[in-house]
Amino acid sequence: MSLAPLLKAVSTHGFAADLHQALAHSPRCIAPKYFYDEQGSALFEQICELPEYYPTRTELALLRQHAAEMAEMIGPQAQLIEYGAGALNKVRLLLDRLLPQAFVPIDISGPHLLQACAALQTDYPNLAIQPVVGDFTQAVAMPAPPTLGSGRRVGFFPGSSIGNFTPAEAESFLAMTAVQLRGGGLLIGVDLIKDPDLLHAAYNDSQGITARFNLNLLERARREIGAQFAADGFRHSAFYNAPLRRIEMHLLSMRRQVLRLQGVDYVFEAGETLHTENSYKYSVAGFQALAERAGFRAGPVWTDAQNWFSLHWLQAPTS
Ligand code: AVJ
Repeated sequence: MSLAPLLKAVSTHGFAADLHQALAHSPRCIAPKYFYDEQGSALFEQICELPEYYPTRTELALLRQHAAEMAEMIGPQAQLIEYGAGALNKVRLLLDRLLPQAFVPIDISGPHLLQACAALQTDYPNLAIQPVVGDFTQAVAMPAPPTLGSGRRVGFFPGSSIGNFTPAEAESFLAMTAVQLRGGGLLIGVDLIKDPDLLHAAYNDSQGITARFNLNLLERARREIGAQFAADGFRHSAFYNAPLRRIEMHLLSMRRQVLRLQGVDYVFEAGETLHTENSYKYSVAGFQALAERAGFRAGPVWTDAQNWFSLHWLQAPTS
């Protein structure tokens, strides 16, 4: 079968325009989707292996332990849509238990997605894979019905990527998926509120991989749009904002300096930041309430013994 992806506009032009807008704005803030060029996606996969980064291994253990129940909620012959698919490791635990009618992984990092799809196809030769290269935060156009078949739609959104949205944005995103997945459901991973020291360590790893991941945003701007700035001018900064229940990542300017982008000079004062990511943490009940406001009905929830991470089954409306 062919793995020709459906291409949505994911252009460098979008990055340049959004970066100008971010730099002109006060406080400076850019969408975390721009982390994920090829280098960024590879660095993120290294993050997932770090001893301090508990979400990936905790969620994988939950998937391994409860795959049978989760597969039962998904049901046979579904069209399984994965949002922000990445390396496609987690879905394998579901695919070992069920053969969906089609698998539709959506990811912004095109070459990375296609490589992951090719590897998946080798291991699951009977699986119909229809990759979509695009930004899942926009209403992504799904492959036309003939390609997809008639099975009910089920979403898979692991990794707590929902945490990149503010709660208000998360609610609108879920409201959009509730419509897309009408008659089906959504299996979603959500990171939980916990000891701030554990959270801090997960985003300040001792090997400095998270720092490189964060700083890659500026390196990408240098590679793709010729941004000019001093290599040692910015430092990784990540901390837990307890009142807002989120990890914030910033690129922190070490001194007064100028970053030049396509002929435009942006002055950074010492201590000024470019805010690159939020990673919100939820309680199980808090997330269920949010999902219900978005139109889902909260179903079974799976959590680990330490209560570090959760996977939720959300039932989409039937009409
Ligand atoms: C992919 C958004 C879930 O927020 O934990 C990891 C990204 N950033 N380390 C997260 C990330 C820094 C990750 N998500």
